[in-house]
Amino acid sequence: MHLRTALFTAALACAAPAASAQIHYNPQTHVFRIDSAGTTYAFGVNDMQELQQLYWGKALAASDNFPAARSNDGNASFDPATSTTPQEYAGWGAGLYVEPALKITFPDGNRDLVLHYVSHTIDGNTLTIRLKDIEREVFVSLRYTTDPQTGILGRSAVIENRTSDPLLIEQAESATWTLPRGTDYTLDYLTGRWAGEDQLQQEAIRPGQRVLESRRGSTGHQNSPWFAVERDHATDQDTGDVWFGTLAWSGSWRITVEQDQLRAIRITGGYNPFDFGYRLAPGQSLDTPVFYGGYTHDGIGGASRLLHRFEIASILPQKPTPKARPVLYNSWEATEFNVDEAGQEALAEKAASIGVERFVMDDGWFGQRKDDHAGLGDWYVNPQKFPHGLKPLIDKVHSLGMDFGLWVEPEMVNPDSDLYRKHPDWVLNFTGRPRTEGRNQLVLNLARQDVRDYVYGFLDKLVTENDIAFLKWDYNRNWSEPGWPAVSPEEQKQVYVQYIDNLYSILRELRAKHPGLEIESCSGGGGRVDLGILRYTDEVWTSDNTDPFDRLSIQDGFTYAFTPGVMMAWVTDSPAWRHPGITSVEYRFLSSMQGGLGVGANLNHWTPEDFATAKRLIAEYKQIRETVQHGSLYRLVSPRGSEDSVTESVSLDRSQAAVFAFLHTSQFGYPYPRIYLRGLDPKAEYRVHWISSEPEKPGPHSELTPMPDHASGAWFMSHGVDVNLRGDFQAAAFRLDRVAADE
Ligand code: DGJ
Repeated sequence: MHLRTALFTAALACAAPAASAQIHYNPQTHVFRIDSAGTTYAFGVNDMQELQQLYWGKALAASDNFPAARSNDGNASFDPATSTTPQEYAGWGAGLYVEPALKITFPDGNRDLVLHYVSHTIDGNTLTIRLKDIEREVFVSLRYTTDPQTGILGRSAVIENRTSDPLLIEQAESATWTLPRGTDYTLDYLTGRWAGEDQLQQEAIRPGQRVLESRRGSTGHQNSPWFAVERDHATDQDTGDVWFGTLAWSGSWRITVEQDQLRAIRITGGYNPFDFGYRLAPGQSLDTPVFYGGYTHDGIGGASRLLHRFEIASILPQKPTPKARPVLYNSWEATEFNVDEAGQEALAEKAASIGVERFVMDDGWFGQRKDDHAGLGDWYVNPQKFPHGLKPLIDKVHSLGMDFGLWVEPEMVNPDSDLYRKHPDWVLNFTGRPRTEGRNQLVLNLARQDVRDYVYGFLDKLVTENDIAFLKWDYNRNWSEPGWPAVSPEEQKQVYVQYIDNLYSILRELRAKHPGLEIESCSGGGGRVDLGILRYTDEVWTSDNTDPFDRLSIQDGFTYAFTPGVMMAWVTDSPAWRHPGITSVEYRFLSSMQGGLGVGANLNHWTPEDFATAKRLIAEYKQIRETVQHGSLYRLVSPRGSEDSVTESVSLDRSQAAVFAFLHTSQFGYPYPRIYLRGLDPKAEYRVHWISSEPEKPGPHSELTPMPDHASGAWFMSHGVDVNLRGDFQAAAFRLDRVAADE
C-alpha cells in the first residue's frame, strides 16, 4: 500500500466506525441485508414478487433475522397494496399513486409497468438485483454499492429494452429511499441563487411532496441535489438519527420528499421527469445517475462528516488522498476582462511575495474578448493582449515559484464570434424560434458529437501547447430552448442525458491525457456543484459573492453537502462590489481560510501592512490546511440568525484542531459566548497557537476566563474557552497542537 494511503486509512480508523461491509442474502426469507460501517439496510422480495424495503438505520445484531417481506394491503380500496408497500423501485403501473421510479410508454399505447424480482448477484461490495416487467421484455438492474468506511450506499438503475420496438422512458429515477411511518421528521435542504448559494432550510415533513430540483440543464444555484432528514429534530448538531442523500448528476435533476397518505416517507431522485422523454431502441439501455444515501446516529454534523469522508476517499479525482488545494491568486476581481502580459505579470509578482502557489488568469485572454459581448468559442490567444502568446506569462509565473492556471468557458459561444458565424446550428435551439441569450451567450449543444469533439480538441491543444496546471471551467448561464434539430423529433429529448455524458467524457479524457491537470467547476459561482462533476474536478468555485460575512452562511450551507476540501474561498477587496461594509484584511482571511484559500483582491491597491498581514496568514494557513480541507468539521455555532459563529476542524488523528470564531455585530455588549470544542482526544494535552492576532486578554475582573497556553482535550471540550471579541465584523482563530508525550 502507498504510504500516504496507509496513513490515511490508519487515521480514518480512529475517526469512523470499523470499516467493513457485508452483503447477505437469506434464501429462506428472500431478504437482502447490507451491513456496513454501523448501518444496516434491508429489503426483501415480497409475496407479490416486488422488492420491498424493510429497514434502514443503525446497525442491527448479526443474529437479528428479518421476517419475509409481506406486501401491505392498505386499509381501503383507495389504498391498493402497490401504493402502500414501500417498494425499492416501483414501475408506474397497477395502482401506484406515490412517486414512481420508472414510467414508460410503449408504442402500442400501453403504459402499465409492473416490475418483479428475477435474480440477483453479489460481487464484493456490490449487489445487483434484476427486475422485469410482468409481461414485457423490459429489464431493470438495480445496483447497490456500499462503502465500508462510511456505510454510504450508492444506488442506480440500468433500464434495458429487450422488446422488438422502441419505447419511451418518461421518468427514470435512480432510487427510492423509504423511512418508517412517522410525523416527527424534519427535512433539511439547500436553496440559493446566483451570489447567494447554499442557504440551509429546515422544515417539518408534512403530507404531500416537497420537490427539490433543477430544470435548467445543469445542477443550478436554486437547489443543491442534497437532502437530510432528522428524526426528533435535535438541537445539537452531533446527536440524533439522520438519513441523508445526494445525487451525482450535473444535468436537470429532481428529488421528491414525500409523506404518503399512511405517513410513510419516501425520497425518490434521479433525472428530472420534466420535459424528459428518452427513446430507448430495442437492445439499448439507459443508466441513471447514482443516488448516494447514508445514515448516522451522530446528528446532522455527523452526516456531513460522513459525506466529506466519502467524497474525499471515493469521489474526487485524486481519491483516496487528494492533494491539499494550493493557495491561489485569481485575476478576475482585480482586472476583469482587461488582462494583458504586463498587468498579469505585475500581479503575479505581488502574489508570489505573499506565498501564493498558483496564479490563475481569469476571463479576457482569448478571441476578441473585451467584455462579455464577444469572443466565447474562439479559443486562440488574443494577439493584442498577448503578442507573444501565453508562454512569457507562464514562464514568469513559474520563475516566481507558482504554477499557472487559466479560465475557460468551453460550453458557451457568443453570437459575436467566428465559431458562431461558422456554426450557428451548434447551439441548443428550436428551428425558427428565438434563441434566448444569457450574458450575451448561447449554449453549445454538447450532445452533438461534432461539438463534443471541437470542445475536447481545443482544450487538449491548449493544455498540450501551454504548461497549464489548472483550468477554471466556467459555465455562466442555464439552458433555454433545449432543442436538438439535427436528430429526429423522437430523439431530441435525449439531450438531457447525452449532453452531460459528453461533458463527463471530455473531462475524463482530458484528465487521462494530462494526468497533472487540475480542474475547478465554476458556474457563475456555485451553480454546478454535485457528486457527478466532483468525480472530475478537484475543487469548485463556491460563489461569486466574496463578501467575507455573506460567505460565512454560504460556506456553512455548502459544508452540509460538500467537503471544505473543495470549497474555494478568496480574499477580495473591501468594500466590495456586493457590499459596502468594511472588513479588515484579517477578517477576510479568516473567513476564507475555512476552505481552499485564494486571493482575488487587486494587489495593486494593497498597502505594505496588507501585504504583511496576508503573508503571515498564508503561512499560518499552510500549517492547518490539511486539517481544514480533509479533517472533521464541527459547526459549533451557526451563522444563521445569530450574532456570532464558530467552526472547528479536527485532523483525523486528532493531533491538531483549528478554530475560527466570528462576531458579526455586538448588541448590548454581551461577552462572546463560551466555545466548547469537540472531537479532541480528552486525555491528550494541546498547546494553543493564535492564528489571528491574539484578542486583548480579559482584565482581572472580567467575566471571561483567559485562554490557557495549553490544557487537556477535556478542558477545551468541557470547560470550554473564552475569546474576547467585541464590536462589529470581528474575528479570531487559533490552532491546537497535541503535545507529544515526551515533550
Ligand atoms: C463567473 C465566475 O464565477 C467569476 O469568478 C469569473 O470567472 C467570471 N465568470 C468571468 O467571466
